[in-house]
Amino acid sequence: MIQRTREQFIHLFEKEPLIVVSPGRINLIGEHTDYNDGFVLPAAIDKKIVYAIALNNTQQCNAHAVFTQETVSFHLNDVKPTPGWINYLMGVVYQLQERGLPVQGFDCVVAGDIPVGAGMSSSAAVEGGLVAGLNHLFGYGLTRMEMALIGQQAEHTFPGVQCGIMDQFANLHGKKDQVIRLDCRSLEYEYFPFNFPGYKVVLCNSMVHHSLASSEYNVRRRQCEEGVKAIQVKHPAVQSLRDANMFMLEEVKEQLPAKVYDRCNYVIAEIQRVQDATVLLKQGNLSEFGQLMYDTHEGLSKLYEVSCPELDFLVSLSREREEVAGARVMGGGFGGCTINLVKTEKVDDFVAYIKSRYQDQYGKAPEVYVTTIEDGVTVKENVRENA
Ligand code: GLA
Repeated sequence: MIQRTREQFIHLFEKEPLIVVSPGRINLIGEHTDYNDGFVLPAAIDKKIVYAIALNNTQQCNAHAVFTQETVSFHLNDVKPTPGWINYLMGVVYQLQERGLPVQGFDCVVAGDIPVGAGMSSSAAVEGGLVAGLNHLFGYGLTRMEMALIGQQAEHTFPGVQCGIMDQFANLHGKKDQVIRLDCRSLEYEYFPFNFPGYKVVLCNSMVHHSLASSEYNVRRRQCEEGVKAIQVKHPAVQSLRDANMFMLEEVKEQLPAKVYDRCNYVIAEIQRVQDATVLLKQGNLSEFGQLMYDTHEGLSKLYEVSCPELDFLVSLSREREEVAGARVMGGGFGGCTINLVKTEKVDDFVAYIKSRYQDQYGKAPEVYVTTIEDGVTVKENVRENA
C-alpha cells in the first residue's frame, strides 16, 4: 500500500512525498471510560491509513483519497467545518492554526484499509497521520501526546464528536506487540506485553453503522456528567466518575433518571475492570481476563445501551465457542466490531462459524479481521522502490 500511495502521489503531483503510516486501534477493555477520567487498554494494529504528503509552496491544500478517487482542495484562509472526509483534515489544520503554528499549503494522497464506522478509529488515524506529517514537514517539534491532543480537539470542533483521548493516544503511542494502559486523567501510561501466547485478537464486523452513533455518544457523555453533578452535592471532591464509587451512586439513585443511574453504574464498574484486567494480563490469566470482557459487553449492552442486536448476536456466538476466551463490542458502539480473543489454531474454524451463522441470521456477510499489534504513527522519509 505504501508504494502504491507513493506512486499515485508522484503521478498526480510530480515530486517525492514523505510517507506517514497511521494505524487504527483495538481496545482490550475500558470502553467509555476515557472521557470519565478512567483507564483504557488499547493498542495500535495492522490496519492503517497511509499518507503521501509534501509541501506545495502555495496557500492551497489538495488531498486525493484513493478510496473515492476524488481530489478535494481547500484554502488556508477558509478552514471551516465542511461535509465529507476533508472535514478531518481541516479540523487538524484549524487546530494547528489556533495554536499559532505556521501552516503552508500541501498536497497529499490518502489510502487505507481501516473500515470506516467499524470502531477501529479510522478518523483518529486520519487526524494523527496528518498532524504527524505536518509536524515533520514544518518541524514543529510536537510531542506525541501533544499531537494526540490536537487530533482530539480536531474531532471535537469539526466532526463534533466529544470523544475522549483513547483513539488519538493509541494511534500515536502504539508499540509492536504491546498494549498500553493509559490513565486518562494524568495521561500517564505503561506498556504491557500482550501476554496471551497462542491467542489472536479477532475483530468481527457487524457491518452495521448507525447514523445516531455520534449524537448518542455525546448524549452518553452528558449523562455521565449529570451523574457526577448529583454526587458532587454530598461529595464535592468528586470531579468525574473516576472519583466515584457505587455507594456514592446509590446515595443519589432516587434523584437520578434511571438511565443516568445505569450509565454511571456501568462506568464505575468498567473503570475498576480495567484495573483488574491489567493485573490478569500481567499474570497471563486469560480465562478471567476473558470473563471481564464478557462482563463489559453485558454492561455496554444493558446499562450503557451502545450495543445492537447484531453485536449481541456476534457475542452470543463467541460464547458458544470453546476457542474464544472473551468477546465484547469494541469502541463507541452502535454497530462496528466485536473484539474476540481466539485460540490461534482454531481461528479458521471460528471465522467460518461466525460467517455462516451471521449470514444465516442477517443475510449479510460479516467481515472478520485477524489483527496484529503494531507501532503507532510512523513517518518514513525517502521511501523508494523496494523500500
Ligand atoms: C470512541 C471514542 C473514544 C472512546 C470510545 C469508547 O472510540 O473516540 O474516545 O470514548 O469511543 O470507549
